[in-house]
Amino acid sequence: MLEVAVITVSDRAFKGEYHDHSGPTIVEMINESPIEANVSLTIVPDDKAQIKTAIMHNLGKDYILTTGGTGISPGDLTPEVTQDICEKEVPGISEMLRHESYKETPFAVFSRGYCGIRGRTIIVNFPGSVKAVTICTKLILPIMEHGIQMLRGGKH
Ligand code: MTE
Repeated sequence: MLEVAVITVSDRAFKGEYHDHSGPTIVEMINESPIEANVSLTIVPDDKAQIKTAIMHNLGKDYILTTGGTGISPGDLTPEVTQDICEKEVPGISEMLRHESYKETPFAVFSRGYCGIRGRTIIVNFPGSVKAVTICTKLILPIMEHGIQMLRGGKH
C-alpha cells in the first residue's frame, strides 16, 4: 500500500476563486489505477512557508505529488521550496515529464518542476493544469512502486 500526498499549490484555488480540478484528477487517476494507495489531498496558496509546511507535514509518506506553481511567473515558487527540502535530486523524473509534455505543448518548457528525495519520501512537482496532471500522472504511475522499492533498498 503506497501512501501518497497530493498538494495543490494555487492562490486562486486556496481562496475558493475557482474549484481545484487538478488535485482531484491526480487522486482519481491513482485510485483508478492498479496501484493500491492511500491518497490525501491538500490545497495551499503560492506561499513559500505554507508550501513548505504542507510538504514537511507529509514527509514519511512514499510520495508527495504537488500540482501548480511551477511556471515562470513571479508567484511560482513550488520548485524552489521543493528543492530546499530535498536531499537528493531525481532529475530523470522531471526530465521525462517535461519531455513527454513537450510533445503535447511547447509551453511545457516553462514548467520548472523539480523531483527529489527527502528521507523516505519522493517528491514530484507537476504543472498546474488538468491537462498537465493527466499526462504527468499517467507517466509516473508505472514507475511509482519500483521507485519506492529502490528507495527502501530492496531488490530491483
Ligand atoms: N505540461 C503539460 N503536459 N500540459 C500543459 O498544458 N502547460 C505548461 C507547462 N506544462 C502544460 C504543461 C504551461 S502553459 C506552464 S505556464 C507550465 O506548465 C507551468 O504551469 P504551472 O505554473 O501551473 O505549474
